[in-house]
Amino acid sequence: MATLGLAIDTTFDDTSVAILRGRNEVLAHLTLSQLEEHAEFGGVVPERASRKHLEVIHALIRQAVREAAVALTDLDWVAVSNRPGLLGSILIGLTVAKALSFALKIPLIGINHIEAHPYACLLAGEDLDFPALHLVVAGGHTLLLLQEGHFDWRVVGRSRDDAAGECADKVARVFGLPMPGGKAIDEIALACQPGDYAFPRPMMAEEHFDFSFSGLKTALKYFHRDMDPNLDTRPVLAAFFQSLCDVLLAKTQRAAVHYQVRTVTVSGGLAASGYLQERFRSATQDVPFRLRLAPRALCTDNAAMVACLAAITFEAGRFDGFDLRAEPNLSV
Ligand code: KG4
Ligand code: ZN
Repeated sequence: MATLGLAIDTTFDDTSVAILRGRNEVLAHLTLSQLEEHAEFGGVVPERASRKHLEVIHALIRQAVREAAVALTDLDWVAVSNRPGLLGSILIGLTVAKALSFALKIPLIGINHIEAHPYACLLAGEDLDFPALHLVVAGGHTLLLLQEGHFDWRVVGRSRDDAAGECADKVARVFGLPMPGGKAIDEIALACQPGDYAFPRPMMAEEHFDFSFSGLKTALKYFHRDMDPNLDTRPVLAAFFQSLCDVLLAKTQRAAVHYQVRTVTVSGGLAASGYLQERFRSATQDVPFRLRLAPRALCTDNAAMVACLAAITFEAGRFDGFDLRAEPNLSV
């Protein structure tokens, strides 16, 4: 019989709860964004984030249980993203998950939030063919992960400075666009041609699979400082996003061939970009691997992807104890 589990994600600025039957039947999925909460500060304020998680988490769990039409006592497991992220924020979800595990006498499962991102692709129903290469383009991380099995991960590429999402967010701020910056720039890139503007494509031609986006960000900062204030900036931002996506695409394709993978996934907040998804789709028509793009609605942080990886972890009997810790730093 399919298992029933509840997953919590409070790693950053979204409070998210999901209830999953089996590996991919989402019975309830609720995410409360704190975007408005931090807008006036131009970035996430950690103390405010954890306070907000604490205010809403219990009501969110109650609502999820109601929507899923299950009882808490029906749950077989409870999972939580305990790494990486903001320490105070993770602690809220972790404490609630431990309390549920203790009270209901069900296994507790700690999940790596970054490893959960690609599992958004599995919620469409299929499994992964290994080896798989995952491009994870989240707000704080840009990573290429090689996966040989569900619990066998290796980082083969990472950003040496800014993450791609962070770069897009910072450029958007310089150009006066609303948050989330990636979304605002994506809409421009879809609607507008880049014209004759061209920006650097850092490390694109280099053999390794690491990234660097701070130079591209700086090029845009200088461009903005020196430009005619009446210039139509939409083609400029379209050219910027084209450069950024060119690098992501080229590195991922090269790594996929190098490691002879059978599946390539693209996930994380920036992967919600319609422009990025289209670029990947059209560039991978005739390739020796299968491309799996995370559903756009499940690219940004959510507990459904955490639940999916947790269900597979539960099936494998890999549980955690009450000594499970919050680990703010990334370790894959
Ligand atoms: O995965 P995520 O929600 O948070 C982290 O785990 O870091 O990613 C946030 C990133 C931000 O850079 C944001 O600008 C970008 O995802 N983003 C988008 C969209 N929604 C959020 N980028 C492109 N298109 C969107 N619709
Ligand atoms: Zn994330």
